[in-house]
Amino acid sequence: MTIATTNPAAEAALHTMLEDVITGLSQGQKTLPSKYFYDERGSKLFDDICELDEYYLTRTESSLMQARVGDIASVIGPNALLVEYGSGSSLKTRLLLRNLVQPAGYVPIDISGEYLSQVGHSLKAEFPEIEIMPVVADFTKSFAIPSPSVEEARRVIYFPGSTIGNFQRDDAKMLLAGMADNAGPIGGVLIGVDLDKDRDVLRSAYNDSKGVTAEFNLNVLKRINDELGGGFDLAKFRHDAVFNNVHSCIEMHLISTQRQTVKVCTYSFEFEENETILTEYSHKYTVDAFGLMANDVGLDVKNVWTDSNNMFAVMYLERA
Ligand code: AVJ
Repeated sequence: MTIATTNPAAEAALHTMLEDVITGLSQGQKTLPSKYFYDERGSKLFDDICELDEYYLTRTESSLMQARVGDIASVIGPNALLVEYGSGSSLKTRLLLRNLVQPAGYVPIDISGEYLSQVGHSLKAEFPEIEIMPVVADFTKSFAIPSPSVEEARRVIYFPGSTIGNFQRDDAKMLLAGMADNAGPIGGVLIGVDLDKDRDVLRSAYNDSKGVTAEFNLNVLKRINDELGGGFDLAKFRHDAVFNNVHSCIEMHLISTQRQTVKVCTYSFEFEENETILTEYSHKYTVDAFGLMANDVGLDVKNVWTDSNNMFAVMYLERA
């Protein structure tokens, strides 16, 4: 199959996406990787999700960070190099950057080069005294962290938003191990973790009454149609999010409302009525369970900050 673009990097990205889509839809339980939610429209829909009454995560993490940033900054200490995985709009990071004592630099890492360079420019204008060194990379793969021009006291990997929840436990562990490596022997990991809680609260957070999460979920099919010439009829799929008690995670699905065949490029996929595509995991941890997982890859929990309702935790991990 040929995808006609003028930009070789964009072409390679489309081929990877096609491969991922074909692989995912060929499995017994059909899947699609959640990273494909986030094109421009998907990122906008995610921002809308963050404003929903039911979606407590972003709001809770932000106010927790606001309340505790003084503590967090003193634990991190002066002259740290802050390295953020999946920086996006770097919203929560601005708070940290304003409060850290003479940071040695900030390295935002994001898969979207265009967005990253925009955000990079505005950060440079906002923080002229901090060296900003964006890296375009997929943080699940290996990449090099640039050295700042001033000496760094330690490296701190920042991974907010409970994005760690999108990974199944083994993958989450691998990612944490990679962070420990990247942080080095005296570095640390500052990570946001959504906590296990009442099932109804969790289910509502991912099945909101305005249907924004449904739009967000269906957007992955729209992307396949628009970018890979897919033939999904969005009216024949509906969103559902269920809680998996065994793995303690929300699973987002797209349910085929009828028996149908869908073409993507030269491939065809059969759907039974009510057959689903699993599009996202969002794991929920207890502080203890997360700590044990960190211990498994040689990290110790140094600090835990939680909100008064125990909804969300920000944890600081260091090499054991
Ligand atoms: C950005 C991965 C933390 O899992 O809660 C929001 C994404 N999916 N609503 C999450 C998401 C559905 C979100 N994370």
